[in-house]
Amino acid sequence: MTPVNENFAKLPGSYLFSTVARRAAAYQEAHPEAELIRLGIGDVTKPLVPAVIEALHRAVEEMGRAETFRGYAPDLGYAFLREAIAAGDFQARGCDIGPDEIFVSDGAKSDSANIQELFGPEARIAVCDPVYPVYVDSNAMAGRCGTYDPEKEKWDRVIYMPCTAENGFTPALPEEEPDLIYLCSPNNPTGTALSRQALQGFVDYAGRTGAVILFDAAYEAYIEGEEIPHSIYECEGARTCAIELRSFSKNAGFTGLRLGYTVVPRDLVRNGASLHAMWKRRHGTKFNGAPYIVQRAGEAVYTPEGQAQIRAQIGGYKDNARILREGLERAGYQVFGGVHSPYLWLKAPGGMTSWEFFDCLLTRASILGTPGSGFGPSGEGYLRLTAFGRREDSVLAMERIAGMEL
Ligand SMILES: Cc1ncc(COP(=O)(O)O)c(C=O)c1O
Repeated sequence: MTPVNENFAKLPGSYLFSTVARRAAAYQEAHPEAELIRLGIGDVTKPLVPAVIEALHRAVEEMGRAETFRGYAPDLGYAFLREAIAAGDFQARGCDIGPDEIFVSDGAKSDSANIQELFGPEARIAVCDPVYPVYVDSNAMAGRCGTYDPEKEKWDRVIYMPCTAENGFTPALPEEEPDLIYLCSPNNPTGTALSRQALQGFVDYAGRTGAVILFDAAYEAYIEGEEIPHSIYECEGARTCAIELRSFSKNAGFTGLRLGYTVVPRDLVRNGASLHAMWKRRHGTKFNGAPYIVQRAGEAVYTPEGQAQIRAQIGGYKDNARILREGLERAGYQVFGGVHSPYLWLKAPGGMTSWEFFDCLLTRASILGTPGSGFGPSGEGYLRLTAFGRREDSVLAMERIAGMEL
């Protein structure tokens, strides 16, 4: 019999979004007149901005002419995009990152799932709890997480770093020493962001222990002010201990177009091996490059028009987040996040569980959220709402919540 990867059998079912969809469909069938407001999904709703659309059109035309046709893209990304990224996202913030340290990809989901391939099977990972599930599941598939305990909803080889209201959603440095530390800031799902001091603390810790930090900055564009670092390379010492993951999904609406990148500095070396060289090798072997037209679209994001247009779009989502946050606070709820992030992390009132509160919002206000417990045990008692919907829906949702009896 052909052996299969037994690690897949250890994975708990991923019931979160399918259960949410099933309950929403059942409710809608029973109440066809109800106008559901969907504040559960993490997908954008606004169309691509004009600068991106124009770049796409131009690139499509080029692909239709023999003189300008492009075949396989360079597997690490076109120089025009890597240079725009290095200048716009890093050098403009004083970060010492060059174009040759940027690896263009089809998005941060693939990168955040694939990056673990650089590390040995015995490497211990540390993750925040609650957490974006891809980090844990990709390591579980690689056999790095041990055994899953359905009672505790935890893997026995994973080091969990609880993020709770008590610690301001800033995880303490792990007591057990991990080899890999996954951090996401601004965070999905809690909507909170790590301060410069907290992130520097993790960089110093990794510098001391030799751990590698995998820093997911997919929501970087939502950061306000100068207090919160946009990149881990704003921290001293990060070039020798950190990899950063970025996405064009939430800043420029590329969820359906697909584009992202990973930064692996040349200085990042473990056990005598250059992680930069290893990722280059891995990318070259397993990836044939993001499409030319999509990379041209990505380049357009960094033009002055592109920047102005995406800033306006992000501003619209941030406005929704403000409407939700203020509405919820007015209605007496305890709510976190939603300032440097499109996500709000809402405490279920009266000791309700995440699913009880989910049902309550669905049946009494026809509002769809995402139960926090689906992101990890420390998410129990919370619900995630997103600001990616339409403004009028955000306003209407808050009117319904204000009039809702618990
Ligand atoms: C924390 C985090 N990282 C990565 C991603 C995936 O981004 P992409 O669309 O670039 O694959 C998401 C998407 O929701 C996310 O929440």
